[in-house]
Amino acid sequence: MSESSVSEAQVREVLRDVNDPEIGRPLADLDMLREVKIGPDNAVAVTVELATPAYPRRERIAHSIGAMLAAKLPQAGRVDVSFTARVKGKQSGGAIGLTVQNIIAVGSGKGGVGKSTVAASLAVGLQLAGARVGLMDADIYGPSIPHLFGVNQRPEIVEQHAPDGQTIRRIKPIDAAGLKLMSIGFMIGFDEPVIVRGPILHRTIQQFLQETAWGELDYLIIDLPPGTGDISLTLSQLVGLAGAVVVCTPQQLALLDAVKAINMFRKVKIPVLGVVENMSGEIFGRGGAKQKAAEMSVPFLGEIPIDAQIRVNGDAGHVRNSFAEGSPSRPYLMNVCEQTAIEIARTLLETPSMPTLEIL
Ligand SMILES: Nc1ncnc2c1ncn2[C@@H]1O[C@H](COP(=O)(O)OP(=O)(O)O)[C@@H](O)[C@H]1O
Ligand SMILES: [Mg+2]
Repeated sequence: MSESSVSEAQVREVLRDVNDPEIGRPLADLDMLREVKIGPDNAVAVTVELATPAYPRRERIAHSIGAMLAAKLPQAGRVDVSFTARVKGKQSGGAIGLTVQNIIAVGSGKGGVGKSTVAASLAVGLQLAGARVGLMDADIYGPSIPHLFGVNQRPEIVEQHAPDGQTIRRIKPIDAAGLKLMSIGFMIGFDEPVIVRGPILHRTIQQFLQETAWGELDYLIIDLPPGTGDISLTLSQLVGLAGAVVVCTPQQLALLDAVKAINMFRKVKIPVLGVVENMSGEIFGRGGAKQKAAEMSVPFLGEIPIDAQIRVNGDAGHVRNSFAEGSPSRPYLMNVCEQTAIEIARTLLETPSMPTLEIL
């Protein structure tokens, strides 16, 4: 090899120390450097595998790679960085037959703080980023997912064949532009009251989770009922959740509810991914949730301003419209999705079986 030519091994060596700016560890350690190809004129093509398609500002990685090569391997020619993503997870729904990488519960201390709106937005945003996503309405008493997506149809029952030849019946989730939805609202209609008692509640949730044909998902978002720990406990007994997202509004009183919700999740052994401050702005103030999150050593996943259009879109069954280009809430909603996905990727690396990581 002539002195001026560049080899794949050299490139990999030089790129060893480029950090994933979100996770804070080298790309090589995270096995993120997939293909490295050298072309004519020493052109370098690198493929980086991200932990989530909802990776914020991925161009930072491309920039670091370019800068590192320019500094340490000046004979390299043009540098091209492309990205793929593969979502990893605990897959702990496997015990009940699910093929879901990450199950995310969205909870709050009380109702009316925008929990369902945030759950639906997480689902839409992660799907827009390119992930395979399901959304389950576990708010048995006040299901709002059908309403938010403007769908009200009965799910079909499908028959599937288990490997042992047995026929199993599964509920087919409602397909909302590629997003898989399941809600008790689909079973009973919009306005009928739901009366479900303790043991049946447990059974209903289990059935929803287990007997829905979710297929392969990167993320399954669960919209929890406000406050109570029953359903959270049921979930944590059935599957190992990636974690919970706690939604609150900025007022002091609402923050106390958020603290209650965080403590409730901790009690039922569901890791808290972080807190979202919803409806922040002039009326309710802002920043309270961020401060409370820091006090409780819980990540802050972002704020969503109060925006009449979010309410209008939700009421009209068009939650997706809040993500339209030019929608003022879009960047805030996307940020919450990205922060949540990154937090999951981060906590996944911190499983007890692995050596302790430095605090980032
Ligand atoms: N950021 C926001 N700006 C304006 N209205 C919002 C926002 N978030 C939620 N809402 C509205 O607040 C009401 C309650 O939201 P919802 O998601 O149903 O709350 P929860 O599930 O906690 O009861 C709905 O009318 C919803 O459209
Ligand atoms: Mg709700």
